[in-house]
Amino acid sequence: MVVLVTGANGQLGQSLQFIAPNYPKIEFVFCNSSTLDITNLNNVKQIFNHYKPNYCINAAAYTAVDKAESEPDKAHLINVIGAKNVAQVCKEHNTVLLHISTDFVFDGNKKAVTLSAVEVPYSENDIPNPTGVYGQTKLDGEIEIQKTWEKHFIIRTSWVYSQFGNNFMKTMLRLASERDTLSVVNDQIGTPTNAVDLAECLIKIIIFSSLSFGEGRGEAFGIYNFSNEGQCSWYDFAKKIFEINNKNIDLKPIPTSSFPTPAKRPKYSVLDKTKIKSTFGIQIKSWKERLKA
Ligand SMILES: NC(=O)c1ccc[n+]([C@@H]2O[C@H](COP(=O)([O-])OP(=O)(O)OC[C@H]3O[C@@H](n4cnc5c(N)ncnc54)[C@H](OP(=O)(O)O)[C@@H]3O)[C@@H](O)[C@H]2O)c1
Repeated sequence: MVVLVTGANGQLGQSLQFIAPNYPKIEFVFCNSSTLDITNLNNVKQIFNHYKPNYCINAAAYTAVDKAESEPDKAHLINVIGAKNVAQVCKEHNTVLLHISTDFVFDGNKKAVTLSAVEVPYSENDIPNPTGVYGQTKLDGEIEIQKTWEKHFIIRTSWVYSQFGNNFMKTMLRLASERDTLSVVNDQIGTPTNAVDLAECLIKIIIFSSLSFGEGRGEAFGIYNFSNEGQCSWYDFAKKIFEINNKNIDLKPIPTSSFPTPAKRPKYSVLDKTKIKSTFGIQIKSWKERLKA
């Protein structure tokens, strides 16, 4: 079984490279942005003609949430046209596509339909309503994939961090070595996701899907949520990062209004993982446990 990974130098791409040796029966083809530019349709065709993958994990994306506000065309090119190109070539090769999307497709205003009207996690069926360019391009990319090729799994995830690339955890650790005090927002709630857990989840879906071909379980294609379990604010996340790493820093909680950013972010974007757990038998660990790891 050949699994082709785009965006192989990103956090998720490197996490997939990290776990690949645990799956000797899978032949992984890792393509970074210089060997495979997903915005170049001919380049995608050429690579697929050569490797003829059974599965493609599209880990390539424009992920600079704030910068996207001033570079909407570039974000659209990679997250919408790029995703569409990959879906089109997957269709030509009957390749199953696993595409990664985001909690930022939601506006964060979902409330329970009860008197308490508390926030409740987003399910796959909730109506997206992005608050910024990044979220909009990720949603438009999902839509292009759905229109182009039915054999797809779209996995929405949130707050991804890892030992690889740039992410919140690494930024906090860097700042802890440069400063004595730090303020972090405490009124945006979500769930951190260890990129290695996301990588493992994708491989489990591939194995499940490859074993169930011919058993009429194609209906498993569609949208799924994945993050670690639990929820926290960015402040809670930072506090735990410093605690685990024995960093002594004066950490202050602040409201979003005190830390304006170009892109508006959802206040609450916890994802409900019931569907991915029940469909693929995936067990998910808590964000605190996985942060420690
Ligand atoms: N990071 C998060 O917190 C987060 C949260 C929710 C969802 N997600 C989604 O999860 C997925 C993986 O994210 P990540 O954190 O691994 O992102 P990342 O670290 O920013 O990696 C993205 C990769 O895509 C590559 N890329 C950009 N343009 C490309 C193109 N035209 N052709 C091929 N590759 C291209 C980049 O390569 P270069 O560096 O060479 O440009 C980079 O290696 C993305 O779909 C993202 O939207 C991420």
